[in-house]
Formats: sequence, structure tokens, C-alpha cells
Amino acid sequence: MIKAVHEAVMVDEVLENLVFKENGKYVDCTFGAGGHSREILKRINASGTLISIEKDKEAVKNIPSELDQDPRFNLINDTFSNLNNFFKEREVDGILIDLGISSTQLDDPDRGFSFQSNGPLDMRLDKTQGQTAADWINNASKKEIEDVLWILGQERASRKIAKKICEIRERKQIDSTKELSDLILSIVYKKTKKHPATNTFRAIRMYINDELGELQKVLEAASYVLCCGGRLAVISFHSIEDRVVKRFFQGKDRAASNVKFRYLKDKFLKPTLEEISANPRSRSAILRVAEKIC
Ligand SMILES: C[S@@+](CC[C@H](N)C(=O)[O-])C[C@H]1O[C@@H](n2cnc3c(N)ncnc32)[C@H](O)[C@@H]1O
Repeated sequence: MIKAVHEAVMVDEVLENLVFKENGKYVDCTFGAGGHSREILKRINASGTLISIEKDKEAVKNIPSELDQDPRFNLINDTFSNLNNFFKEREVDGILIDLGISSTQLDDPDRGFSFQSNGPLDMRLDKTQGQTAADWINNASKKEIEDVLWILGQERASRKIAKKICEIRERKQIDSTKELSDLILSIVYKKTKKHPATNTFRAIRMYINDELGELQKVLEAASYVLCCGGRLAVISFHSIEDRVVKRFFQGKDRAASNVKFRYLKDKFLKPTLEEISANPRSRSAILRVAEKIC
């Protein structure tokens, strides 16, 4: 099968705001297909370094040789919330977090992230640990499913969908993306171009991978490992994630309350119309970059 190529989003905006020292130490917390990592390496000099982190074992399997052989580059297969296990306090100049999943993961039916093609209902970023989406959906209580779809998916039909899931699984386990997507289509009317299963699939993926918990932890860890004046750039793809980032930069919901952040110029940046037309998946991206003040 030909794997979809992931196109990195808002590359110019990230580089312009994040890479302020050619000989700096940078961390790309979400290596994915390496798009941003490659561009950061082009911007730093021979004394600069880039350490990238990626949770998905499949994404780190075939790193292009140009990266593998670059002495300035290192790739760690781990979860980004462990950031402060790898760096000391105030050691890093710039950190990038590009949230969500890549097109390569989304478009691979075997990963179970998409309602567009049939595959096992898995959705784990690290396929070697944790429960699959099928494990969860076939065992969680109706109330738990309702809450996840409502809170993480902002899905207005959360109750109807949870009820239907519980009815169906009494007869047969729900094991595939097609079964879940068909079940939603049978009860939610398609009013816009958006597929009725979009919110549910996203909510379950976020729950299975504890994406909001991971985000909160990596932001805390970043505030510890960044040097004074160091920069943190976060790309979110929907309002729930962006709210966490925004509140963090405002100093709210934070453990390390002595650390402060200041936006560089703009509070947030959005992709240009040219980028959205060339890469429609970038349309919901929102980039926030702030510097640490000590
Ligand atoms: C939007 S993609 C990043 C794409 C990348 N910037 C590029 O240009 O190719 C997000 C990536 O972050 C990874 N990821 C998500 N949560 C993670 C976590 N907690 N720790 C490490 N990697 C994570 C996903 O597996 C995915 O590959």
C-alpha cells in the first residue's frame, strides 16, 4: 500500500518565530513524517542541534537517511510528556508541538483512525500498549461514552450515538471503523459537508491516547526545560486543545506558576489562504508562539 505523505503545516510561520538562534538546541516533540524537523535543520548551523520525539513506533521505523546521518539530529521514540526526562532545566532554546495525527496515520486503514476506509477500530498512537478503541467502546458504560463524545467531540448527538452503540454491542462487538461509522450514519443526519462521524472519531482518538492529559504534561515540562527567552510553539487543530494552550500561556491551570510566558507579536497565527488551498487539512490549524520570561 502506498502511504499518504504528510505535509507539514505553517512551516514558514513556525520557523520565523521559533528558530531565533542558529546554534540553538531545539526539540520537535511531534516528529510525524519529519516535515518540520527537516526545515528546522535547514535553519540551524553546524553547532545547533535538533532532538525530535515521536510516540508512534511505525513513524520512526524508516527515517530518511539524510536525517539519520545528520550529526546534529537525534530521534527519541517516546511520549512527549516525558520531555523533562531527556533535558535539564533551562537547557533548550525552542520547542515545537504539532498536535494531533499525521496524514500518514490518518490514511492508513490498519490504524483505525478514519471513517473514510474500513479497518480495525484501534486508534492507538503506540500500538504496543493501552486499550484499543474497540476494547473501550465495547466495554465502557453508556454514560462514559456519552461524556467522551460530548466533552472531547462536542458531539450534539452524543446521547443518541452512545445509546445505539450499547444496543448494537449487545448483539455483536463493534470491531471496525466501518461498523462505527455506519452506526453513526444510521442515526445522525448529514447536514453539512462534514461527515457525521468526524466528532465521534476525534473524541475517541483523543480519549484513547489521553491527548489532553499529554498536552498539559508536555506544556509543564516545556516550561521547565526551556531557557530564559526560549520559545514554545504549539499548533492545535481544534478549540479544545487551543484553549488548553491559551490558558497555559496566560498562566492559568499551571503547576509551575513562577514561570511566565509572553507572546512574541501576535497571540496566534492562522495558515494563509494559499496554504489552505494547497493543503486543505491545514485549515483548522492555529499556531501560538510564546517566549519564557525568567
Ligand atoms: C500532526 S503530526 C506531526 C507532523 C510533523 N510535524 C511533520 O511535519 O511531519 C503529530 C505527530 O505527533 C505524534 N504524537 C502525538 N501525540 C504524541 C505524544 N504524546 N508523544 C509523542 N508523539 C506524539 C503523532 O504520532 C504524530 O506523528
